[in-house]
Amino acid sequence: MDTAAQRVVVTGSSGKLGRAVVAHLAEHGYAVTAVDRVRPAALPEGTQFLQADLTDYGQAVQVLTHVDEHYGALPVGSGPGVDALVHLAAIPAPGLIPDAATFANNTAITYNLFSAARIAGVRRVVFASSETLLGLSFADTPPPYLPADEEYAVRPQTSYSLSKAVDEEIARHFARWCPEAGFLGLRFSNVMEPDDYVSFPAFDADPSKRSWNAWGYIDARDGALACRLAVESGITGTENFVIAAADSVMSRGSAELAAEAFPDVPLRGDVEGTQTLLSIEKARRLLGFEPQHSWRD
Ligand SMILES: NC(=O)c1ccc[n+]([C@@H]2O[C@H](COP(=O)([O-])OP(=O)(O)OC[C@H]3O[C@@H](n4cnc5c(N)ncnc54)[C@H](O)[C@@H]3O)[C@@H](O)[C@H]2O)c1
Repeated sequence: MDTAAQRVVVTGSSGKLGRAVVAHLAEHGYAVTAVDRVRPAALPEGTQFLQADLTDYGQAVQVLTHVDEHYGALPVGSGPGVDALVHLAAIPAPGLIPDAATFANNTAITYNLFSAARIAGVRRVVFASSETLLGLSFADTPPPYLPADEEYAVRPQTSYSLSKAVDEEIARHFARWCPEAGFLGLRFSNVMEPDDYVSFPAFDADPSKRSWNAWGYIDARDGALACRLAVESGITGTENFVIAAADSVMSRGSAELAAEAFPDVPLRGDVEGTQTLLSIEKARRLLGFEPQHSWRD
């Protein structure tokens, strides 16, 4: 695929995952417009930055259509100035700010951006959903089976997670209204950067410390890979994918850990070695996603 002319807008670009996504897309030849309400410390060469508060609908529309000195004026509705939107901006966890503010920020910006994408004729929309929709914390409410996957109904347990459930629902309806477009939700596991891996060996001492998400994680660089594969997939409509590393954060075998922490939860299929208990089979099958990084390396 010739990506040289493809423009991708990445929201939340100054954040942990956004930085990796901007770098990865720029490396793969995309023209990236990075959008965040916080100015980044650095950006890859050729990447432009737009500072915007996306809770403001007008600003969301403009970042996908026209901002003076950034990209040329486009008649509204004409597209295709922006080819794809990777929407990662959010308050990224429960408890960081009061619940109502988390919910309001996250759902407002998702609505604003999806509506703006419709106006701008953007047909590829990829957005950050969350593993929390699988029903985290599993330590409080075990999953119906392991590896957990996208097949059972979402179980948000916090206002943050509820905002992600609403995001997926907004995506479902925008996909109905824009049948030629794809709205793909990526349910990321806990995002890690290489510097985070120094703390991983300590997890082995107490498996209960990370049983809340069945010992899952995702390397930010593999999260970025998943975003690019979703942008490049021809999938229309809406689909949601669990995006996790191929392995767990632990040295002990996953089947043994699951039996110990979740004795009543059935294991489906063969769970080998330290294989992830957050199933990435759907992402493998439909996106061609194969994680490239493990904390063990
Ligand atoms: N970090 C994780 O473990 C994790 C796990 C699952 C899903 N996610 C999701 O992935 C995405 C990225 O997470 P992250 O860890 O990089 O978070 P982060 O906090 O590092 O980055 C999020 C960015 O969004 C920006 N932002 C928030 N509200 C905004 C607004 N109204 N207007 C403009 N910019 C705004 C912030 O300034 C920040 O730079 C989020 O949607 C998060 O919910 C993260």
